[in-house]
Amino acid sequence: MKKIALLAGMLSLFFVVSTFGASNYKAELKIASATSMEHTYNVGAQYFAKLVEEQTGGRIKFKLYPDGQLGKGERELLEALQQGSIDIYVGSTGPLGGFSQSMQVLDIPFLFRDYAHVDKVLDGPIGASLIADLDKVQMKGLAFWENGFRNLTNNKKVIKTPADAKGMKIRTMENPVHIQAWKAAGVNPTPMAWGEVFGALQQGVIDGQENPVAVILQQKVYEVQKYLSLTQHVYSPAMLIMSTKRWVQIPKEDQEIILKAAKEAAIYQRNLGRQNEEQMLTELASKGMVITRDVDKVAWVAAMKPAFDAFSVQFGKDKIDAILNTK
Ligand code: PAF
Repeated sequence: MKKIALLAGMLSLFFVVSTFGASNYKAELKIASATSMEHTYNVGAQYFAKLVEEQTGGRIKFKLYPDGQLGKGERELLEALQQGSIDIYVGSTGPLGGFSQSMQVLDIPFLFRDYAHVDKVLDGPIGASLIADLDKVQMKGLAFWENGFRNLTNNKKVIKTPADAKGMKIRTMENPVHIQAWKAAGVNPTPMAWGEVFGALQQGVIDGQENPVAVILQQKVYEVQKYLSLTQHVYSPAMLIMSTKRWVQIPKEDQEIILKAAKEAAIYQRNLGRQNEEQMLTELASKGMVITRDVDKVAWVAAMKPAFDAFSVQFGKDKIDAILNTK
């Protein structure tokens, strides 16, 4: 009898402690990005914040810091995340390979066929293992979001083939895989933090840049670039990542709410860009951009092939094949 009473006491104490721990955790978490409030990252982040706020009865709230307010590019934001001065990063995985090398395999040009292929890889075991690797570098990957397939813009002329772009100074992300691929294609890649790109394009320091359609529209790239070629040369994943320093302070019950919301918001955020791509292109055309759809894909693939082969050695052919063969 005594034993049962003791056990019941312990159980209720455990219940009180665990419930107490979760129900009393309060925080306002900083979500930072390099892009504007209108961009899909921040629309998605607001959706994510709403889900978590509702499910925690407002104990966990969020404040968004868009437009590179807390760092002029994504690399700086990731550094701040690692140090714990921001709680959540929403942005591309472009500079992430500099922190967790395995992530770079996703940056290989012409690796992903289409969105269905992307979802299968990123939401499957390959994506899960890349997310798990982030634990080693003080980052808790919550879910893969999306930047999109990247396209080339420039201010000089219509570009269909790599030969048309030969020697042009094109801003790339601070990403060694992208840099190598552009070099192979005969272009002069200039890595630069996103916060500096608009000014550099405006002043003619660089001839062009490459990004998904949503970025070209929502970051007003059309104001300083005339020509857009739908090269779709590389898929650019994005991710919602929490600083491990913050993650470990959060009770397990709330961690589960956050993880679930990050995944639910991922579907919402990915669809925002995908469903509106044609509409965004129409808008870009109405803003004066000359859009080239009939790019010579075969020539681009061939031009970047030497880099692709070098990546097979660098990352392991088996890893690349595992992605290519995911159906
Ligand atoms: O080009 C970049 O740096 C990224 O694509 C951007 C625009 C910051 C969005 O993630």
